[in-house]
Amino acid sequence: MTAFDGQERAADALLGMFRVYRRAYDTFRLPVISTGRSFEFYRRVFFDGQSEAEVLGGLAGKLVVDIGCGLTPFTSNSMFRACHDAGIEFYGVDPKMNGQLRLGHFDRLKIYFNNPRARLDRNAPGAERRVAAYAHQLPFDDASVDVILSSWLLFIWIEDEAALAEIFAEFHRVLKPGGVLRQYPMTKWRPELLADAAWREVSSRFEITQRFLRPGLHWWNVPPSYTGTFTKKS
Ligand SMILES: C[S@@+](CC[C@H](N)C(=O)[O-])C[C@H]1O[C@@H](n2cnc3c(N)ncnc32)[C@H](O)[C@@H]1O
Repeated sequence: MTAFDGQERAADALLGMFRVYRRAYDTFRLPVISTGRSFEFYRRVFFDGQSEAEVLGGLAGKLVVDIGCGLTPFTSNSMFRACHDAGIEFYGVDPKMNGQLRLGHFDRLKIYFNNPRARLDRNAPGAERRVAAYAHQLPFDDASVDVILSSWLLFIWIEDEAALAEIFAEFHRVLKPGGVLRQYPMTKWRPELLADAAWREVSSRFEITQRFLRPGLHWWNVPPSYTGTFTKKS
């Protein structure tokens, strides 16, 4: 077995375990759990560990959208805060932004385990750029977005191929030509395994590259898995 096979298996195992967890949620009709991430997490999973200055410099003048952002806009050490301070247009999209987010004791407990150095604050600088919407119906103009980020939503909570096709068609609509979606975590991309014709067609409109990430920032935050870059082809 090569190291590469091992990486693919590790990523498959993670998603397999998560599938069991999600089925329990589906069975008991529980709401999708929301967490909040640090800028350090974003730098690691989306920006190849670049420094804060490099990440923010690369995003200067760009429109950036975080899909399924959860509690991240309200965390004190988030990328929302860093982008706010650097003057970067950075929006967080999550259907829970319509008021369902309570920031109660359970939320603080989740933050303590995922991102212990963060505080939760409903009025955190940058949090005003939060938008109540679903990934498949984004309130952004055609070809207006430079970068989409999404962590712990696609391929994890949303795995149905028809749903992914609808969401990625929407990403394709709002992204500028050459614009990118950065997505974490996911298994090795295997287009030959896609069953749904619409999903096969929509995903072929993106150039897909992946990088394997070793565990870090505590393994439950960054378990062994792939991070993917989906670049809009035209
Ligand atoms: C596990 S949380 C991830 C939060 C954050 N991105 C992180 O990495 O901690 C998934 C989030 O996606 C949101 N969500 C669920 N379905 C969605 C959809 N169709 N479109 C956009 N966001 C969705 C949930 O409300 C939840 O806050």
